[in-house]
Amino acid sequence: MTDQPRDWLGRPHLDWSPDGTPRSLDHDDIYYSPEDGLAESRHVFLDAVGGPALWNNRPHTVIAETGFGTGLNFLATWQAWRSTRKPGQHLTFISVEGYPLTAQDLRRAHAVWPELQNLSSELTTALPPAVPGFHAVDLSDNLRLLLLYGDAGQVLSQLDAQVNAWYLDGFAPARNADLWSDRVMTEIRRLSAPGAILATFTAAGAVRRALSALGFDVIKAPGFGRKRERITATLPGTSPHIASATSPVILGNGIAGRLLHRALHHLGVEARIVAPGPARNTGGSENPLPMVTPRLTLDHGAYGLLQDQTYLRALRFYGSLASGPEDIWLAPRGALAVAREAEDAERQKRQIAFANWPCSLARLLSPDEARALAGRDLPYGAISFPSGGGLNKRTLIDTLWSEAEILWPASAVSVEGDAGHWSIRDSNGLLAETDCLIIAAGPLSTDFVPMLRPATARVLGQVDFIRRSDPGPALTFGSYLSPSVAGEHGERVAALGATFNREAAFQPGETAPADSETATNFRLLSERLFGQEAEPTAATAWAAWRLTTRDRLPFVGGMGKGRFIMTGLGSRGFTYAPLLADMLAAVIAGAPIPVRRDIKNAIAPNRFAHLV
Ligand SMILES: Cc1cc2nc3c(=O)[nH]c(=O)nc-3n(C[C@H](O)[C@H](O)[C@H](O)COP(=O)(O)OP(=O)(O)OC[C@H]3O[C@@H](n4cnc5c(N)ncnc54)[C@H](O)[C@@H]3O)c2cc1C
Ligand SMILES: C[S@@+](CC[C@H](N)C(=O)[O-])C[C@H]1O[C@@H](n2cnc3c(N)ncnc32)[C@H](O)[C@@H]1O
Repeated sequence: MTDQPRDWLGRPHLDWSPDGTPRSLDHDDIYYSPEDGLAESRHVFLDAVGGPALWNNRPHTVIAETGFGTGLNFLATWQAWRSTRKPGQHLTFISVEGYPLTAQDLRRAHAVWPELQNLSSELTTALPPAVPGFHAVDLSDNLRLLLLYGDAGQVLSQLDAQVNAWYLDGFAPARNADLWSDRVMTEIRRLSAPGAILATFTAAGAVRRALSALGFDVIKAPGFGRKRERITATLPGTSPHIASATSPVILGNGIAGRLLHRALHHLGVEARIVAPGPARNTGGSENPLPMVTPRLTLDHGAYGLLQDQTYLRALRFYGSLASGPEDIWLAPRGALAVAREAEDAERQKRQIAFANWPCSLARLLSPDEARALAGRDLPYGAISFPSGGGLNKRTLIDTLWSEAEILWPASAVSVEGDAGHWSIRDSNGLLAETDCLIIAAGPLSTDFVPMLRPATARVLGQVDFIRRSDPGPALTFGSYLSPSVAGEHGERVAALGATFNREAAFQPGETAPADSETATNFRLLSERLFGQEAEPTAATAWAAWRLTTRDRLPFVGGMGKGRFIMTGLGSRGFTYAPLLADMLAAVIAGAPIPVRRDIKNAIAPNRFAHLV
């Protein structure tokens, strides 16, 4: 097994000229014209693809760029989009970057353009960490920036999108051959919608010939500043109108259903939710103190990628909900993954090397450092995740649980349908009809899709509430201990959980906590946290069911005409749901898919069809 990082990502080496223009020492070239980068960006890219006319008649426009660099082209486009878009229009700006600049570098580059300061500040505050993979960043003005960090040929080959306009903005082809390679050009062709238009600063013969050979009509145009010529290119055809689902119905109002509703809304699709009344809300999403923590692995495959990408998306998503003094995160923010024995500590060392995350995201702690942070002896050390931790469910509920139109059935619902048309009924009759049914009913999802049963299990879990007087962060040790919150009787209370009882026989409806599960939680605390005793409180324990899957990967995607599913989130629903909801919403709305194709394929719901 290797301790090498999983994926490649370069660190840029910059040289700044006195006028504030960055130059790449790695490629010995400038990011943009020192004469006037912003004017160049508008002339060579934005205007060349038609300017605001590009999005004039489109509900959803997709622009993609090779070479995000300082994000100047992106800001110039955002500025034009902000002032000309019509209500309800969406823009996705995809950009590839193999050597991400820091937020500080971006701010430094943008500082020369006061008119971009607001946009620069919003962008740099939300900029993802330098971790390989896809990073969707939702900004104001119905704008999604999808940053693909990694080598261009590799990340583009994982992308599914229909691009309306391209900015080809690598360094000069002679100095940056990998960004202009046949592989990259072939991916550009594959991802282009009919009628796609492409702009670039170069007029290099090799680029012209490559584009022509791929079917683009290439023309020369006057260059910017001292550059004589550049090219634009168009793919023949007319871009098809993408019809989005009219009114999807989501079965389930747990974290999956809620975030799906929100993600669809973000893409201009209004869904309705069908859910049992609040008093009969029985899913794991009712967890009063859920944790959002990463799971570092040594896995090169889809499972490992899914862990990384969902965690990073969850951090950005919950961070974006932060609303005023009552933050979405419990205090103190942060989580420690405790090493329970020497072998664990060794594994953690390798996981840290494999993930290769910046220290701001994950850092190995010595036993002394771990003790200082946790306020207790952790003799084998820990990994610190400063951005993870416990969620303040109250804020989450106030934000998410009030957004959707909900149809409350009078009794259990039944679904009938064929040829992609679905009728949802309760004992009073027809509740809703739809051509887009989304099943997100947690452990009850398999009632609607029996073919998933052989590949799933309903597993009982319980969280107990114990006294926790130290002000330490969340701890994970196979189980988890949340940071403490004020209990009803003035004491500090933390969630301890969760049990994972595969033997318990599934009962739908509310689940009563059991003494035997409490005993399990207390025993595991003592065994795994070096003899730590649990001090019970008066707070009632909480129990629920989760749906787990045979290969520990969720089920998210389409299942036949007009039917979609998002379930099987196991013990990690709060971490998984933001990215997976984005992905499924993009599938339904025909928008660029914000996850790598290998992850999307690995979680496809029909992967166990052979078991039926
Ligand atoms: C004890 C315990 C502790 C956990 N702790 C954590 C944690 O700390 N962090 C974390 O990330 N994850 C945790 N999980 C896992 C997490 O709770 C689940 O992964 C997540 O809640 C699943 O969300 P869901 O929306 O898919 O399903 P659920 O939360 O089960 O929601 C399904 C919803 O569908 C509704 N529904 C059911 N039947 C129907 C129907 N016929 N029609 C319409 N609606 C229906 C239900 O009422 C429910 O509201 C925990 C789970 C348990 C059990
Ligand atoms: C000319 S700069 C882009 C300027 C940028 N559009 C702007 O607005 O600042 C080219 C960018 O391509 C990136 N790049 C070079 N080779 C790459 C590769 N193989 N894969 C991904 N990105 C690459 C560089 O790191 C650099 O940021």
